[in-house]
Amino acid sequence: MSARGRFITLEGGEGAGKSTLLAGLRGHIVRHGIDLVQAREPGGTVLGEAVRAIVLDPAQRGMAAEAELLLMFAARAQLVRELVEPALARGQWVLCDRYADASYAYQGGGRGQPAERIAELERWACDGVKPDLTLLLDLPVATGRARAAGRGEADRIEAEADAFFERVRAAYRARAAAEPARFRVIDAGQPAERVLAAAVAALAPLLQEAAP
Ligand SMILES: Nc1ncnc2c1ncn2[C@@H]1O[C@H](COP(=O)(O)OP(=O)(O)O)[C@@H](O)[C@H]1O
Ligand SMILES: [Mg+2]
Repeated sequence: MSARGRFITLEGGEGAGKSTLLAGLRGHIVRHGIDLVQAREPGGTVLGEAVRAIVLDPAQRGMAAEAELLLMFAARAQLVRELVEPALARGQWVLCDRYADASYAYQGGGRGQPAERIAELERWACDGVKPDLTLLLDLPVATGRARAAGRGEADRIEAEADAFFERVRAAYRARAAAEPARFRVIDAGQPAERVLAAAVAALAPLLQEAAP
């Protein structure tokens, strides 16, 4: 039986460079002979992608914060059971673009949902599946927005005001400060190669443990 896999999550605001880093990091991990599964949140399953379409749809502008929070955790509950936990149990590694920390940042910091409520949902929905390592790509809001602007029409969440994203950023940083053993905060304003190098360095201990 193979050893349990590792669960690595990428977090950060819009345009921080998560998708860019994910591509580079995937190559790095696979070159170590590790069987890697990749996912994104919300999404990663048929149910999750359907939820994603609803929560990001600009036509859903009247969505209550409570409804948004529950939808995010519904997608996450499915992702954990269908993809993350089975992969980790098989010995595969999982690299996920956002996870539960994003709810503390967006639905908590951004929308003002109480952290205790989110923690309760996390206990219930995530079934004890916690990342081994979380890379937080930290970037000033204006820089992230300028980078993301080239992507076309803003989705429902991207359409929020700067103050919303300042609260998201502050909540992410507070999470990282509260759990320094799990988080690595990376300055996402650096060139992409430097961001990748910082992520590779953060991953080195996990890869070393996994070496045959
Ligand atoms: N370190 C970086 N420096 C400058 N531009 C970057 C960097 N990382 C990503 N970008 C660019 O910024 C935009 C948003 O990056 P992306 O990886 O899609 O961010 P996210 O997935 O976090 O929203 C893309 O056009 C990407 O090429
Ligand atoms: Mg992305």
